[in-house]
Order: sequence, then structure tokens, then C-alpha cells
Amino acid sequence: MPDLIPTRATPDDTPRILELLDNAAAWLHRRGITAQWSIGGFPTERIISDIRDGHVYVVRHDTSLVAAVTIDRRADPELWQPDDNPDRAVYVHRLVVRRSWAGRRIGALLLDFAAECAAAAGLPLVRVDCAKGNTDLHRYYTSMGFSHVRTVDLPHRRSGALFQRATCGDRTAPALTTDLKAGVTLSANLSRR
Ligand SMILES: CC(C)(COP(=O)(O)OP(=O)(O)OC[C@H]1O[C@@H](n2cnc3c(N)ncnc32)[C@H](O)[C@@H]1OP(=O)(O)O)[C@@H](O)C(=O)NCCC(=O)NCCS
Repeated sequence: MPDLIPTRATPDDTPRILELLDNAAAWLHRRGITAQWSIGGFPTERIISDIRDGHVYVVRHDTSLVAAVTIDRRADPELWQPDDNPDRAVYVHRLVVRRSWAGRRIGALLLDFAAECAAAAGLPLVRVDCAKGNTDLHRYYTSMGFSHVRTVDLPHRRSGALFQRATCGDRTAPALTTDLKAGVTLSANLSRR
């Protein structure tokens, strides 16, 4: 497999990130998974501001955008409670891999990258919230070393299954460390808004 390194997205990547997300949503709908992502339903303004704030990372290969993820310290207050110590984690959002690149553990690479981001910021946990009823997706996160924290069932939210994984451990990809050290300002960029 070619070297695939997460790098910060730039504003120019916005249309291609939206296209990547829409393609993934269409793939899910084709599989009958409609209660997760809506096609065309992604928050463009939020994605633009997340890119500007340095929270969005992409994986490129040649001219293609292979994958994307947003990593920040924004705990969703409807889901994560004060008892969860929301400040002690980084949060993964909109993790996506282009279908033609699926099955090569690029999702795992990005989740390891999130763990490196957390470690670089001195934080012990990586967290994600995902669609409440999507047991296959829950299995995916469990297979990636995440534990189910609980499921918050709010009627107006599709998301609510909460997962977390410790930052340190043998799942962290050492190959990414060098890139991260070179990339420097993670802690600053992961500051909460
Ligand atoms: C999650 C994702 C980034 C992982 O990419 P990857 O490392 O290439 O791994 P794969 O795509 O092969 O997915 C691993 C397994 O999880 C399953 N899976 C992934 N996302 C899923 C979803 N949203 N719903 C149900 N199953 C899902 C895949 O079908 C696959 O199952 P299999 O091993 O039985 O074939 C990628 O599958 C993806 O973009 N999924 C759609 C978007 C998504 O759900 N993101 C997470 C948001 S919380």
C-alpha cells in the first residue's frame, strides 16, 4: 500500500470532502442504512470553519482525496455529561473513507492518528458518537479497540451511541509519530472553542 499520511485539509478541499461524505452517505443508503447520514445533509459552513480552525485532516493519494476526519475537543453537550470529564478527550467526527479505498484499514489509521493527537495534547481518551441503531458500525468501533460507554436516546438525534478508547496502548501506530512531531502545533489546534 502507498504511504498514506493524514495532513490538514485546506479550504480548497471543501468540495471534495463534501463529495466524499455524500458518496459515503449514498453507499450507506444503498445498503439500507438510512438513519445515519443524509445525502446532501452535511453542514458545509461547519466543515469550512472546522477546516479553517485546523481540525479537519485528509488522506491524499496522487490527486485523489482518499479519506477525511475531523478531530477536535468539542464534546457534544447533549451526549457527553460533566461526569464523563468531557475535557479529557479528543472527539472524532465525520470519519470517512472513499469506497474504492475501503477495506485497507485507512479508518484504523485515522483513529490511530486521533489517538496520537490526543496524546500530543496530553489527553487520555479518544471519543466518538455514532448512529444509535447501527449495530454494524458499533461493531466496527469495538473492533478498533473502542468501548461502548452508553447510548443516549434523544428522539431528535440519530447519533447517541458513545464510544471511547484510551490514547495510549499498543494500537497506536508508531509510524505516525514522526509525522506528528514534524506537524507540531496539534495541541494548539485542538484547543476548544
Ligand atoms: C468507517 C470507515 C471510515 C472505515 O473505513 P475502512 O477502514 O476502509 O473500513 P471498511 O470500510 O472496510 O469498514 C469496516 C467494516 O465496517 C463496516 N462499516 C463501516 N461503516 C459502516 C456504517 N456506517 N454502517 C455499517 N457498517 C459500516 C463495513 O461495511 C465493513 O464491514 P465488513 O468488514 O463486514 O466488510 C468507512 O467504512 C466509512 O467511510 N464508512 C461510512 C461512513 C461512516 O459510517 N463513518 C463513521 C461515522 S461515525
